[in-house]
Amino acid sequence: MKISVCIGSACHLKGSYNVIHSLQQLVEEYGVADKVEINASFCLGQCAEAVSVKVDDNEVQSVSGATVRDFFAKSVLPAVGEGGQNQEGEGDICVHHRKEAGTFAGGQALRS
Ligand code: FES
Repeated sequence: MKISVCIGSACHLKGSYNVIHSLQQLVEEYGVADKVEINASFCLGQCAEAVSVKVDDNEVQSVSGATVRDFFAKSVLPAVGEGGQNQEGEGDICVHHRKEAGTFAGGQALRS
């Protein structure tokens, strides 16, 4: 899958590079580097929602440093077939999403 992170001026000011860096770390953390490609993109036309991020040809989403883990868990991991296999100790992504995203309930089952 391809993740496009806008580095247009509005998004740049709101922290595009921080979002890209965080996504790169998450990709490493979850071992999905062979399935996920992160690209910088020019203006995605949603400047008011900066930082704008697009997964493949899906709708543009608003992502920030604070929500990048949420975004990764909801929009990236399910699409690459990962169910939140993060280690228990650092699993804030799992704890957080157990309430919101059904995908992580599945992840729990897979792990046991
Ligand atoms: S600058 Fe990012 S959507 Fe326009």
